[in-house]
This record gives sequence, structure tokens and C-alpha cells, in this order.
Amino acid sequence: MHRIAVIGGDGTGPEVVREALKVLEAAKSRFGLSFELIPYDLGGERYLRTKEICPDSVVDELRSMNAILLGAIGHPDVAPGILEKGILLKLRFALDQYVNLRPVKLYREKDCPIKGKTPKDIDFVVVRENTQDLYCGMGGVAQEGTPEETATQVGIYTRFGVDRCLRYAFELARKRGKSKKLTLCGKTNVLTYIYGLWERAFHEMGKAEFPDVQRDYAHVDATCMWMIKNPEWFDVIVTGNLFGDIITDLGAMLQGGMGIAAGGNINPEGVSMFEPIGGSAPKYTGKNVINPLAAIGAMGMMLETLGEEDAASAVDAAIQSVLGRLDSLAAGKMGFSTTKVGDMVAETVAKG
Ligand code: IPM
Ligand code: MN
Repeated sequence: MHRIAVIGGDGTGPEVVREALKVLEAAKSRFGLSFELIPYDLGGERYLRTKEICPDSVVDELRSMNAILLGAIGHPDVAPGILEKGILLKLRFALDQYVNLRPVKLYREKDCPIKGKTPKDIDFVVVRENTQDLYCGMGGVAQEGTPEETATQVGIYTRFGVDRCLRYAFELARKRGKSKKLTLCGKTNVLTYIYGLWERAFHEMGKAEFPDVQRDYAHVDATCMWMIKNPEWFDVIVTGNLFGDIITDLGAMLQGGMGIAAGGNINPEGVSMFEPIGGSAPKYTGKNVINPLAAIGAMGMMLETLGEEDAASAVDAAIQSVLGRLDSLAAGKMGFSTTKVGDMVAETVAKG
């Protein structure tokens, strides 16, 4: 029995999570899975109603789950940062989900904005460190609102935090077995302290424990260039939290947009949380036009992490098959509604 916490969250989050749960239900019947779903009301609406963001008691309950499925966090009537830091980052940090795993996979040539790139060219995974960097909230503001105002925001990395993320990435490169290449994406020419640490840790671990995995390095700016020019060079990319945030939005565009980009906040020893990587899309909220495939894909990643590999493969195959029938992966341009796309994937999973 898997206990799954479900956080629809803000904007289109609840709409796409509903479709993901529809598909989960289909997988449940076909593969005889056993689930308990526990819904949590977190997000902008609850905050505006009660001033509560994410109580510690909720975090403690979430620790006892087998996984968490999340829609989106971010509300147009709440100042930026409050919900993002108070819910999403709080959970990533408190549950020590130290890897943000973001596959970049193109299914159809026509969804890629880069001329001439086909599905065989765009198939890599970004391993984004998820608990350190400039995301730690270290720093502050002095003399706010005056001409002397000073602000700092500090990026921190510990050897422990870098090593555990690197180990995950090396193991993934070995397991994927594509070209068994791990690219470290950093900025060793300017951020010499933190990416100096990353680079030393990378080569030491690679030499000692993963001699079969080829090591490659690219600065983050060059990584952006290569992702567009030669995305086929990448197999697994490992990088820091902020760079990982940025390059995975670029990666999402390579695979056809936010509508298809899924990710997981992984604690290999604890509770992981799966989410579409796009935001709450206020302009599409309630219109039944948002693409649910990213959320369905995130749910598939959740099944895989829970050890339900057959169900996970069936979900992935169903996404591929339904995707072939959509006009476009973009919100409002799919040729079908959100609920219809969810129905089609669920039916495909049920039929096998
Ligand atoms: C993401 C988002 C978050 C991040 C925000 C909403 C805090 O952009 O998951 O990529 O920066 O990590
Ligand atoms: Mn982001």
C-alpha cells in the first residue's frame, strides 16, 4: 500500500493533478496497485483565507508518506516569494529532497523549436542540486528603501551536499547507459569557490568510483549554447540549484514546452515529491486548456520511484501514444481539452 500526499496547489495545479490521478486510477486497476491518496490544501487560496502557509504539522505528516504529487505553487494575489519559499522550498529542504531530477526528452520532431533536431538528438537528464546554493535564504537587506540600501544573497555549498548529488548523477549516467557521460555544468571561471569545490569533488569521485563514466565540463553559459546547437552531446548533466533552475526551463522548450516537462524532487533515502516543472499559469486557470501531460509524466516518475516499474512504463507509453494525436503541446493549442487528454491517457493505460 502506497500512501500518496496530493497537493493540487495554485492556478492550473489542481486541474493537471486531477488528470494525473485519473491516469493513476487506470494504472491501479490494470496493475493491481494499492494506494491511499491524502489530499492537502496548501497554496495561495488557503494563505489568503487563513494566513497559514505550510504548518510544521503538515510537514511532519508528509514525512510519513511514500511520495507526494504536487501541481503548482504561485498565486497572482500573493507577493512573489511567500508561497514559493513557504511551501515549495520549505518542503524540498525539510524533506531533504537533494536532487531535482528533470528529464529533457523530445517525443516528436515537430514540437522542437530547433530546426532539424529529432527525438534521437534530444534525450538527456538534468540532475539539479536541490537544497543548497543561493536558494538557502542566507543574506539580508540593510537600510531598506534608502539610497544606501544594501542587499546580499549568499550561495553556499558543502562538500557533503555536493558529493551526494554527484554520486546520484554518476550512478544515473551508469544506469542509463546512453553514452555513459556526465557533464558538470558550472562557472569555474568566475564562481571559483563554489564551482571550484564542485569541480574537485567531481573529478575525485569520478576517478575513484566511476572510472567507466566519461567526465565532461561546460560553463553554464556555454551549456545554454550547446543545448541549442548540439543537444545530442548531452547524456546526464549535473549542476547547482540556480543554474539547474535556469537550464531546465531552456530544456523544457527543447522538448516542446512546459506542457510536457516533468520533474521529481528526490530524496533517495526518504520521501520524494513529483511535479510538472511549469508554474501555476494563472492566465489559463479554470479554462480546461492546460496540457496535463507534464503532471501525468511526473506521476509516472513517482510510480517508477515507488518501484512500480511496469505501471510507470505503461504511463510513459500512453503519454507517447496520446501525444501523437495532439496538434501542439502548448496550452490552448492541443486540439483537445485538459480533461479529454487525461481521459485519452487513462484509457490507453487501462487498455494496455
Ligand atoms: C522550479 C521553480 C521554483 C524554483 C520556484 C517556483 C521557487 O522555478 O521548480 O523550477 O526556482 O526552483
Ligand atoms: Mn524554475
